[in-house]
Amino acid sequence: MIRKRGSVILCGAFLFVTWNAILVLLLWGRPPTVQLDQGAREVAELPTSDMVRDLLRMTDAFEEELERQKNILLLIQSHQSLWDSSSRNQENAAAPAPPVIPVLVMACNRVTVRRCLDKLLQHRPSAERFPIIVSQDCGHADTAEVIRSYGDQVTHLKQPDLSDVPVRPEHKKFQGYYKISRHYRWALNQVFKTLSHSSAVIVEDDLEVAPDFFEYFGALLPVLKSDPNLWCVSAWNDNGRDGYVDPGRAELLYRTDFFPGLGWMLLREVWEELEPKWPASFWDDWMRQPEQRRDRACVRPEISRTLTFGRQGVSLGQFYDKYLRYIKLNTQFVPFTTLDLNYLKEETYRENFEREVYNASVVTYEDVKQGRLTGAGPFRLQYSSKSGFKALAKNLGVMDDLKSGVPRTGYRGVVSFFFRGRRIYLAPPPGWTRYDPSWS
Ligand code: UD1
Ligand code: MN
Repeated sequence: MIRKRGSVILCGAFLFVTWNAILVLLLWGRPPTVQLDQGAREVAELPTSDMVRDLLRMTDAFEEELERQKNILLLIQSHQSLWDSSSRNQENAAAPAPPVIPVLVMACNRVTVRRCLDKLLQHRPSAERFPIIVSQDCGHADTAEVIRSYGDQVTHLKQPDLSDVPVRPEHKKFQGYYKISRHYRWALNQVFKTLSHSSAVIVEDDLEVAPDFFEYFGALLPVLKSDPNLWCVSAWNDNGRDGYVDPGRAELLYRTDFFPGLGWMLLREVWEELEPKWPASFWDDWMRQPEQRRDRACVRPEISRTLTFGRQGVSLGQFYDKYLRYIKLNTQFVPFTTLDLNYLKEETYRENFEREVYNASVVTYEDVKQGRLTGAGPFRLQYSSKSGFKALAKNLGVMDDLKSGVPRTGYRGVVSFFFRGRRIYLAPPPGWTRYDPSWS
């Protein structure tokens, strides 16, 4: 726009100067206008001293005028660089810089936060776009020293209230969960209120991220922003064990009604909605309750973009040994920002998903377990009660727990997983309408 206006002005200036130059030439070449009689011709052919003086005055005036115009042109030329750079800036402003997505790392007393930070820094494509904020609870000196050693590569915040949270006696053993919840509230307020960010990815200190972790969240931010029925994007597949995911579909993403956590992105608006009623403990299960979730879904990947190495933590290690340690971390970089993600849009997604699930041939548990499936699939295994779901899930090795009635990774009651090279949908009967929160 500006560039165009600049060249119009230049053209105008050029025409103006040319016009004046032509005028000068014409006037120079024009004979004097005095009428002379024949007798005076000889004398007249020799200009009088008056005429010479007049002409000299005229040429001086023209010279002055040309000088003035030359100066105007030089002025325009000297400003040309300004015009150019301001039009470049305008173009940049027209294509806005990609939004900043801070990564909030929740730390406490484990020096192994180093593994988390090393991987984040290794895979981070831009420090400006993805600032890393480490929020430390617990006041543990060695852990603080590790975080400090990263210098200005990370911002180190310290949760100031290290007192015990007052809890009723039977909850003494859950003190850790109360502290985690208090820390989350404080750290998210720092990110969204004090630092005024509009989105954030939350990572815990015992998570290691995949090479395309940043690419994934960068690509999914516009999807999250444009869909009011999404409230998070997670890097985690609760059933993402080796053998339970399709290794050839690293780019595949799902909508899920189950809040996965473990490396997840939220927007400021969601934080402003949750913060006033943020719970004193067990924040993740609280998020999974219908009052908080309000029928919203999260996006999750086929293959996890986080891995958890935190065997020693606030919860006991059995869950870790049984499931979490086997969740496979994606290794192949998927260029999500160049992919068409429109298939995740709610209506399209729901229609395609239900068509795919309910057109799949129904099989029995025995068919699956004894390898009697023929054809490429997909196949549908039906459940119609809580105990039916749990038995099938347990026997097939997928997560059998439900929170507020929603099975892990579930979408409209359906759990999608891979089994001996085929896609299986563990699904309620057709016509599903709602979850039953009493299933737990
Ligand atoms: C589990 C969940 C975790 C959730 C937590 C709270 C898994 C694998 N983990 O924690 O996502 O946040 O329940 O319901 O499902 N921390 C503090 N202050 C403390 C203790 C811990 O801030 O006093 C931080 C840790 O640094 C870590 C997070 O809280 O970032 C979770 O702690 P961890 O010890 O890993 O507990 P999990 O049992 O994994
Ligand atoms: Mn943990």
